[in-house]
Amino acid sequence: MEDFKEKTSGRVPVHVSIIMDGNGRWARQRGEERVYGHTHGVESVRACVEAAAEAGVRYLSLFAFSEENWGRPEAEVSTLMRLMFKAIADEVEALKKQGVRFRVLGDMDRLDPALVEAIRAAEQFTAPDPGKEPILDLIVFLSYSGKWDILQAAKRLASDYSSDPEGLAAAGPEEIASRLVTAGIPDPDLIIRTSGECRISNYLLWQAAYSEFLFTDTLWPDFRKEEFRSALEEFSKRDRRYGKVK
Ligand code: FPP
Repeated sequence: MEDFKEKTSGRVPVHVSIIMDGNGRWARQRGEERVYGHTHGVESVRACVEAAAEAGVRYLSLFAFSEENWGRPEAEVSTLMRLMFKAIADEVEALKKQGVRFRVLGDMDRLDPALVEAIRAAEQFTAPDPGKEPILDLIVFLSYSGKWDILQAAKRLASDYSSDPEGLAAAGPEEIASRLVTAGIPDPDLIIRTSGECRISNYLLWQAAYSEFLFTDTLWPDFRKEEFRSALEEFSKRDRRYGKVK
């Protein structure tokens, strides 16, 4: 850990977000069904939560299921939802013990009500006691897409200002930001995508305006503590100027 602190010169991102990709390919390489990759992917989630907490990252968010993923074969969708259910049941105690607050963001209306209930219960269970800060917020994006998020924020903005056209005309970007599902969560400093794909795939479109991107060939089930730490090391070398000169 001392070595890690030296390597990053203390420049640790506040919010790391990960597009977990490559579970299917990882399973296929082993002659297994895709679900085998997803199961091992849950272990990578556990490893990254630990690595993030150890490194002092304050928010770790994960793109677990996109709006577009609803278009996958029904059997895979239900397997992923079952896996989510199981992961919540298996991990919630340990998360609470570690001081990790669990949250799920996305279009809840499309999820099975029993899963939504389990999510809400886990969120309540891991909520910190009043006046206490969690060590880490673990945010899982489920049934989420960036365009959906911006659209729902824009609709709420229009509705909130329906009788105040002048207020609407004067609205700045913070009026959208405060209506996104991520309101109150700092924008990601670093977005990692695994498996060699170099695109954002309708993820945090608004929130990624000034994120640093890191693309790695490692498939998600192989992305463990070592890989997470190297990503933080790489981030610490980036020069962030936010469109300005230094
Ligand atoms: C991408 O691999 C991965 C997913 C769509 C699902 C991610 C879900 C998990 C890791 C399990 C549950 C998550 C949590 C937070 C407990 P892919 O299927 O697109 O792989 P491929 O591109 O190789 O086909």
